Amino acid sequence: MNILTQKAGLKQFLDKLRAEGKTIGFVPTMGALHAGHISLINIAQQQCDVVVCSIFVNPTQFNDKKDLERYPRTLEKDTELLVKANCDFLFYPEIEEMYPEEDKRTFDFGFLDKTLDGAFRPGHFNGVGQIVSKLFDAVEPDKAFFGEKDFQQVLVIKEMVSQLNYKLEIVSCPILREKDGLAMSSRNTLLNEAERTAASLIPILMNAAKEDFVSGASTENIKLKLTAKINAEPLFKLDYFEIRNTSDLNEFDASTDKEAVILIAVFCGRIRLIDNLVVKTI
Ligand code: PAJ
Repeated sequence: MNILTQKAGLKQFLDKLRAEGKTIGFVPTMGALHAGHISLINIAQQQCDVVVCSIFVNPTQFNDKKDLERYPRTLEKDTELLVKANCDFLFYPEIEEMYPEEDKRTFDFGFLDKTLDGAFRPGHFNGVGQIVSKLFDAVEPDKAFFGEKDFQQVLVIKEMVSQLNYKLEIVSCPILREKDGLAMSSRNTLLNEAERTAASLIPILMNAAKEDFVSGASTENIKLKLTAKINAEPLFKLDYFEIRNTSDLNEFDASTDKEAVILIAVFCGRIRLIDNLVVKTI
């Protein structure tokens, strides 16, 4: 695997491969890699000739400074995992390489940036837009792969691709889960034992909500039931629990929407966890 820290060096390699007719798949990450990230690499390998993974803990998308400070950084282990997965390139830039000067761009993602994580993490998606556009410019991929774990992020990236007219395809990939159903996340490693035990309740409650939804319970009742259960666990603090449509994240409307997504963001101790389940309604 080639490890590059400079955009120019990466471009040299990739331009040569492009000239040979090779397609480039790109998987942007913030590191602390787990099987969920590796599943994106594997899907990219099935669809593209060459796969680039980036690791960059992007400061502009952290609205909470403490969250940025404690974000896990495990480059050595990440590199081993990527080598084992046969990833072709790791792009691992320093801050100065991605932000030689302050990025003052502000995106308008409309409602997508005003609801759910957009509302609870002000500036987060603008920061994601800034770094992902810079990474797209550096890699110029044919396809870029994102996890449905960050459901709203996928929609934001698709919107950005359409606004900035990038000629690339966004591929969204399924959520990988731990044995107990907890969605894999770099932040899971920050949970202590009691928090980790409590966290395993999240997928159980989400699945119960899904069952209730499928059996026709009202959104209001499902919300009340789940909220009561979350509030009963002292380690939890709920940010949001919502049932939305999958196309623009507006309230789910059974008369027009074919798919719903059940989304949750909950603090488990100091660590904020997110999860979602997509439910087809016909
Ligand atoms: P990060 O949280 O490292 O996630 C990188 C990619 O891995 C994202 O597309 C995310 O949705 C996906 N991913 C994380 N956990 C997953 C799981 N359990 N199953 C499947 N995919 C999973 O998301 C980011 O980084 C950043 O916002 C980034 C896009 C890199 C911009 O900085």
